[in-house]
Amino acid sequence: MSYPYQIKSFEEYKSVYNKSVMDPEGFWGDIAGHFYWRKRWDKVLNWNFKDPKVEWFIGGRLNITENCLDRHLGSLGNKPAIIWEPNDPEEHHRILTYRELHTKVVQFANVLKNNGVQKGDRVCLYMGMVPELAIAVLACARIGAIHSVIFGGFSAQSIADRLMDAQAEYVITCDGAYRGNKEIPLKSVIDDALVQCRFVKRVIVLTRTRTPVSMIKGRDVWWEDEIRKVETMGNPDCPAEEMDSEDPLFILYTSGSTGKPKGVVHTCAGYMVYTNYTFVNTFQYQPGDIHFCTADIGWITGHSYIVYGPLSAGATTLLFEGIPTWPDAGRFWEVVDKYKVNVLYTAPTAIRSLMGFGLGPLQGKQLSSLKVLGTVGEPINEEAWHWYNENIGKGRCPIVDTWWQTETGGVLISNMAGVTPAKPSYATLPMPGVQPVLVDENGKEITGNNVSGNLCIRFPWPSIIRTTYGDHERCRTNYFSAYENMYFTGDGCYRDEEGYYRITGRVDDVLNVSGHRIGTAEVENAINMHAGVVESAVVGYPHDIKGQGIYCFVIFQGSHGDENLNRQDITQTVSRIIGPIAKPDKIQFVPGLPKTRSGKIMRRILRKIAEGEMENLGDTSTLLDPAVVDEIKKGKL
Ligand code: WT7
Repeated sequence: MSYPYQIKSFEEYKSVYNKSVMDPEGFWGDIAGHFYWRKRWDKVLNWNFKDPKVEWFIGGRLNITENCLDRHLGSLGNKPAIIWEPNDPEEHHRILTYRELHTKVVQFANVLKNNGVQKGDRVCLYMGMVPELAIAVLACARIGAIHSVIFGGFSAQSIADRLMDAQAEYVITCDGAYRGNKEIPLKSVIDDALVQCRFVKRVIVLTRTRTPVSMIKGRDVWWEDEIRKVETMGNPDCPAEEMDSEDPLFILYTSGSTGKPKGVVHTCAGYMVYTNYTFVNTFQYQPGDIHFCTADIGWITGHSYIVYGPLSAGATTLLFEGIPTWPDAGRFWEVVDKYKVNVLYTAPTAIRSLMGFGLGPLQGKQLSSLKVLGTVGEPINEEAWHWYNENIGKGRCPIVDTWWQTETGGVLISNMAGVTPAKPSYATLPMPGVQPVLVDENGKEITGNNVSGNLCIRFPWPSIIRTTYGDHERCRTNYFSAYENMYFTGDGCYRDEEGYYRITGRVDDVLNVSGHRIGTAEVENAINMHAGVVESAVVGYPHDIKGQGIYCFVIFQGSHGDENLNRQDITQTVSRIIGPIAKPDKIQFVPGLPKTRSGKIMRRILRKIAEGEMENLGDTSTLLDPAVVDEIKKGKL
């Protein structure tokens, strides 16, 4: 593979960027010409942000898996597509060449068909980080089924909510998953979820941990048995379904400022073109490089930069089942050394956590293969940036700070490794085709440099969110109604004297805990379900490793007087309702919450208290009962 659209210098970036803004259709049309289409598009773009309605490569026909697999078979058939490193370093790793991956995807696509899955059906994937997860994702795409991957850290209740929202009739899972020294009983969690989801027709279960599982007759089947069936059927092929550019490719649920997670919908062509383009340019991928993105495929980062971006570019992508701190805090470095990783893409929270172990775990690890480092998910503090740069990159690997979102599909603002300038804690400059705008509270654009505001984007890029599944109005109100004719990101942002962007964090009620997005309203709903809880308010506070921690103010009228036990009970409830990833860090019992006369909780005050800025609470005169603030301050944890 060669990448004629890979930008090679800052000068070239500037001229490409200019072209992308002056003539977006010409620009993206040229890029799209490098892919394999069953039929070329008739028109590049149709859009309005009012409805909103955005369509890219209109009339085009394609299948993303032909671009990720089939088209590479000639030249890259024997090259590794996926390298899989298991949780346990003693277990044997696996390498799948493009040919092998193609064969497995085709096989599993036939399994899906045999089990009744058709184009447009929603298929939920709840699996650990095993190659079969990537295979299942691609097999869905092969036959035009819409995959919806759910991260293994979500509870049965969260899965049930998502299955119902997506009306997913098919589930693919594993008996269990390994993560560090833990074994997560995935199938058993699915069983709990399905009690509420009688509409699920089929569950396909991959064997991974050999955890005993219950298999329901007529509903549950083993992955391995189903593969054997298609093997004996004789016809090993599964022609790719011809998809329209704008057919949905997947749904991925993410948290917003309301209680209910939303199903972000991405479509086939635009998502493919944009993830490929940003993969090739941000990381400056060179043929033969080993790309290691440490995210889980359950998040958008894994979708775009473990699976679709790299594979559409014919790259070698490393899929790691485990966690950075098991068996010890040198695991990432061991993996880098073992496979001679060239690009390492991880999250600030992982860097901060590994920093805490000092330089010992780096002893004896060869990191000289590394060429490019990346970070994603939350703002990176300067200390972590410098640690990453000095100790991992040894001062010779550019760090790309990639800002984007589930809704954006791919990286929107980032430097390009070694091509455009880096600046610690800055995402720096927009990708070609991306037009950022800063606006004030009144929706007025803030021009010039050295200014802060709410970050919006004024023009569509190919992988912009198309809708929230089953509720288009929600998509409109969430992203396109705050500011007219603009996509609102929910992030605050500073533009420095040179025009470089620095993301300062969410300005809505969304928390970013260890790079995971969690809505405060979601956590509140879960806490409020606990017996004895009268009311609660949840805010974020700065946390050394997680970035943000979850601070809960709770009015409690439980029966037994053991505060600590009550805290643990509430934590259990949150874990049951949302999942372990949303567990509160601090629970403070309070006699009341600061409310305005109209009954609105003044979160601003609670946020300040949680941050420990007691002196600086601002105007509290509009509160119904200002005295409650002093009570809360006294009990601060
Ligand atoms: C939110 C999106 C898309 C990757 C994973 C997160 C924050 C993401 C950065 C960055 C500062 C960042 C933003 C954004 N964020 N990347 N490089 N610098 N903040 O996806 O779960 O949809 O969360 O993550 O606040 O809005 P997500």
